[in-house]
Amino acid sequence: MANSNRVTLLTGAAGLLGFRLVEALAPHGDLVAVVHSHKLTAPAHSGVTFACCDLTDRNETALLLRRYSPKTVINCAAMTDVDGCEDKPDLARAINCGIVENILSEAEPFDTRFVQLSTDYIFDGMSGPYPEDAVPNPVNVYGKTKLEAEQLVNDWPGSKLIVRTSALYDCLDSGKANLFASTYYRLRRSESVVSASDAHCNPIWTQNLAHAVAEAASTDAEGVLNVAGPVYLSRYDFSLIVATKYGYAPQLVRAAVLGSMGRRASRPLLAGLDSSKAISLLNTRLLSPLETLSDPLFQPAM
Ligand SMILES: NC(=O)c1ccc[n+]([C@@H]2O[C@H](COP(=O)([O-])OP(=O)(O)OC[C@H]3O[C@@H](n4cnc5c(N)ncnc54)[C@H](OP(=O)(O)O)[C@@H]3O)[C@@H](O)[C@H]2O)c1
Repeated sequence: MANSNRVTLLTGAAGLLGFRLVEALAPHGDLVAVVHSHKLTAPAHSGVTFACCDLTDRNETALLLRRYSPKTVINCAAMTDVDGCEDKPDLARAINCGIVENILSEAEPFDTRFVQLSTDYIFDGMSGPYPEDAVPNPVNVYGKTKLEAEQLVNDWPGSKLIVRTSALYDCLDSGKANLFASTYYRLRRSESVVSASDAHCNPIWTQNLAHAVAEAASTDAEGVLNVAGPVYLSRYDFSLIVATKYGYAPQLVRAAVLGSMGRRASRPLLAGLDSSKAISLLNTRLLSPLETLSDPLFQPAM
């Protein structure tokens, strides 16, 4: 590593967003990409060092932080399975809060910038899309643990930014569930799709989000920044956009109310985030679903 003071340490590097952040940050060099259960293969990018760490383990985390003394930490490690969090609240807390605690106890408050990814699920979904200063009121364990993590970050004396986002999607057929993949890959197999018409969000392409997060991390912005898609719509309407764009019969997409879909955890219905502040702060333009699906870089497997 050329200059350890300039290292960016990215956690959750094999995740939906983390994978795209590796691509976005790699050209800048001096990136340490941290994975956990994901199997390490040959580094896909020059200038990227892959490290394996269970960040819920305080000692392992301390060794990692001491080894690299990162200038910036971007924390994408999380337990994002909302129903899984409901079933295993202790594990959800250990991952969503414990990891933040472990990193912050070792990060140097006056020399490390900490960027925490958070979610619109810290809100109750009565009145989204939410601005940065709306009052949180989570309705499930996932949202509660993510809000507790935000509070840990807020109490830390160093430079920090909380980036809240909403409903990630991507075209990669990676097996990671997301709004696009769970619609498109079913339609491609001629299967019907059931999508919630009462659950609203601001979906964002992870590649677009990754560029916005990388840019936000490089600013001196503090506090909370909403970075989500500019269009507020239901999950059903998003699925219809996907079906129409790729020439599948809209009848294959069936509307349902979320309460009938057998989810174990409650979810905020009118979730979503107002990203006006990010739109004026960042050069990265936040793309609508139609713009994304027409982007030549958005290439689902055919
Ligand atoms: N997905 C969404 O729609 C959405 C919406 C709003 C906000 N967010 C937030 O955005 C962030 C990224 O979400 P995502 O969907 O990209 O997450 P993801 O795909 O579920 O990835 C999370 C990553 O966390 C890592 N991780 C879990 N336990 C760990 C541990 N003990 N030690 C080290 N790493 C561990 C996993 O690494 P391994 O794979 O190596 O095990 C995994 O790749 C999260 O903060 C999430 O709350 C997501």
